[in-house]
Amino acid sequence: GTGRKRLIAGNWKMNCQRAAALELASSVVELSQASENADLLICVPSIHLADIEKCLQDSQVKLGAQDAHWAESGAYTGETSVSMLEDYRVQYLLVGHSERREMFGDSDERVANKFEAALKNGIKPILCIGESLEQREQGVTLDVLKSQVQAVIDRVGIKAFENAAIAYEPIWAIGTGVTATPEQAQEVHEQLRHWLATHDQAIADGLQILYGGSMNAANAETLLAQPDIDGGLIGGASLKADDFMKIYSVA
Ligand code: G3P
Repeated sequence: GTGRKRLIAGNWKMNCQRAAALELASSVVELSQASENADLLICVPSIHLADIEKCLQDSQVKLGAQDAHWAESGAYTGETSVSMLEDYRVQYLLVGHSERREMFGDSDERVANKFEAALKNGIKPILCIGESLEQREQGVTLDVLKSQVQAVIDRVGIKAFENAAIAYEPIWAIGTGVTATPEQAQEVHEQLRHWLATHDQAIADGLQILYGGSMNAANAETLLAQPDIDGGLIGGASLKADDFMKIYSVA
């Protein structure tokens, strides 16, 4: 809503071997039509970045990574640094995804480290936040979200969000087929934006707040029609090029 450009982002998670990844990326390139209203992004497994960077050349589709380490370089066996991503023309980095928070120890502090490192390397972080079902039932949703965002604001300051986006992903809606209703999502997005405005009105007005959690070709239109929902972060439905493009076409 209100003048903000939309962002439709696919999060492939740990899916697609090499050939399938190239095929999926090529289909996205082929099917995508340039739009003034919305950017199109795929966040792919890091091992496929080199292949997919080539595949996306001369297309409007933007490239993102799903995770990276914040250090420049060093003794971090198995890790990929944010500065390495830069060489592959990665423009976006997911940080704070609930799967990483839950399974890989991404604390608020690490999330802030990654967010900060992305900005330093000219990469736009997409800060993922979300409450569990239990937290929603306890009525603490907004408190959870605020504390996840505040941890990053404390590190980089509110102005840094000029070059970032937020993805609201209720954990109970991820991969479950249970989508937040447009009203539920709008309510959270609006409250979040309102709270951000108490830090900085202009930043809050300009910030893209994406919704994620079982968004698909059938429910995208009503979600994206909400005034404070500026796009989607799409898991399962981003693995089928035509479904993903249907979502993009309504954005
Ligand atoms: O990051 C996207 C995500 O967690 C949502 O996944 O499969 O419910 O669309 P999915």
